[in-house]
Amino acid sequence: MPRCGWIICRRGGWDDGRDPPHGAPSVTSRPRTAILISGRGSNMAALLQAAADPTYPAEIVLVLSNRADAAGLDHARARGIPTALVESRPFGRDRAAFEQAMETELHGHGVTLIALAGFMRVLTEGFVARWRDRLVNIHPSLLPAFRGLDTHARALAAGVKLHGCTVHLVRPGVDEGPILAQAAVPVRPDDTEATLAARVLAEEHRLYPAALAWLAARLVRIEGDIARIAAAPAEGALANPLPVWGTLRRNAGER
Ligand code: GRF
Repeated sequence: MPRCGWIICRRGGWDDGRDPPHGAPSVTSRPRTAILISGRGSNMAALLQAAADPTYPAEIVLVLSNRADAAGLDHARARGIPTALVESRPFGRDRAAFEQAMETELHGHGVTLIALAGFMRVLTEGFVARWRDRLVNIHPSLLPAFRGLDTHARALAAGVKLHGCTVHLVRPGVDEGPILAQAAVPVRPDDTEATLAARVLAEEHRLYPAALAWLAARLVRIEGDIARIAAAPAEGALANPLPVWGTLRRNAGER
C-alpha cells in the first residue's frame, strides 16, 4: 500500500497512472506559500500542522503579520517558520504603500501563493489583481450570506439553522470570489455567539488545509466566477432540525 499522504491518496489524482490534472506539480515543486495574519492565528496553526507533512502540496515559507502583537507570530516562530512583521498602522490610509512593503517581503521569500488567515486589512484592487487566483481567504460564514464582520451574531439574529465557513479565492469585493469549499454546522437552539463560533472554527481548521491543498495541487479550475474542484464531492446532506417525521409527530403531540 502506498503511504497515505496528501498527494498519494487523493482520489482521481495522478498517482493512478493518468496524466496530472492541469499540469499538477510533483511534491518537489510545491508552491511557496505565505500565510497573512493579524491576530490569534489558529487557522495559520492548522495550515502549518498540515504542511508539516512533506507530501502536503503547499510549502509554507513565510508567516507575515501586520500587527506586532499577533499571537500567531509566536506560534510560527516556535515552529521554526520564517516570520515578517509589516505594520500597517504607520502607513495610515496609504494601502498601496503598505502592500508594496508586504510584497517586498513576499517576493524576498519567493512566495507564489498567499493564504489569508484572519488578516484584517482590506486589500487594494491592484494587489488582488496581481495575486489573482493565487490569493485565498477563509471567512466564517456560508458565503454569500453574512459578508463582513460579526458573522456569528448575525447568523443567530437571522435565525438560520445552518451556519459555517467558506474558503474562497479573493476578488476586489470584500468576502467575494470563487468559492473553493464550504463546511456547515447546525445552529442549536441554545447557541451563543461563542459556542457557535467555536463549532464553526473547528470546521475552519479542517476545511482550510484541504482547500489550500487542492489549490496548491492545481486541482482548481476557474470558470468565470465559479471554481471547479477535482476532488471527491461530499455525500449525504446536513439538515437542521433533523427532518424526521417521528420527531415532528412527537413534538406536535406535546403541544
Ligand atoms: C477566523 O474565524 C477566520 O474565518 C476569519 O478570521 C478568524 C481568524 O481566526 N477570517 P484565527 O486568527 O485563524 O484564529
